[in-house]
Amino acid sequence: MTQPLEYGNGDATYQAAGQQVGIRKLVDCFFDIMASDPKYATIYDWHPGDKEMARDKLALFLCGWMGGPKPFIEKYGPIRIPEVHKHLDVTAVERDLWLDCMARALAEQDYPPDLVEYLLQQLYIPAERVRQACMGQ
Ligand code: HEM
Repeated sequence: MTQPLEYGNGDATYQAAGQQVGIRKLVDCFFDIMASDPKYATIYDWHPGDKEMARDKLALFLCGWMGGPKPFIEKYGPIRIPEVHKHLDVTAVERDLWLDCMARALAEQDYPPDLVEYLLQQLYIPAERVRQACMGQ
């Protein structure tokens, strides 16, 4: 009997999140919420320019992060998430704003609740590493 693949196993998360198209939709929603609610103004304004590049980079990065193909590396080259944030002042406040905004975007997708819960748990890990890098820890 075949068992369903668990999230984190192979590309199961990537598939469940709707592959590149679904992930871009999630990221668009994430940035739309960040732009529209003033409580996220600090972290939104930290992103340079018209945010199209930020949307593209986060969406392509998350494809590989979810176990799928790695379009970020193909297009932009290797990346280390904590390091690329080091010039920002990410404290626990900004980390939690980022995660809160992502939680709202995830809630707007047609995702099963266990996928949402899994992604939020997993995203805390790089978000906390970003905070540590920014705080010089
Ligand atoms: C902890 C809270 C976070 C905040 C406040 C934050 C904010 C930002 C900002 C402002 C930028 C643009 C930096 C610049 O171009 O000067 C950026 C870039 C980026 N962030 Fe975050 N971020 C956070 C967490 C994360 C996490 C958890 C991930 C991935 C799981 C991520 C993925 C990326 C990627 C892929 C880029 C593009 C880097 C590049 O330019 O190559 N970020 N982030």
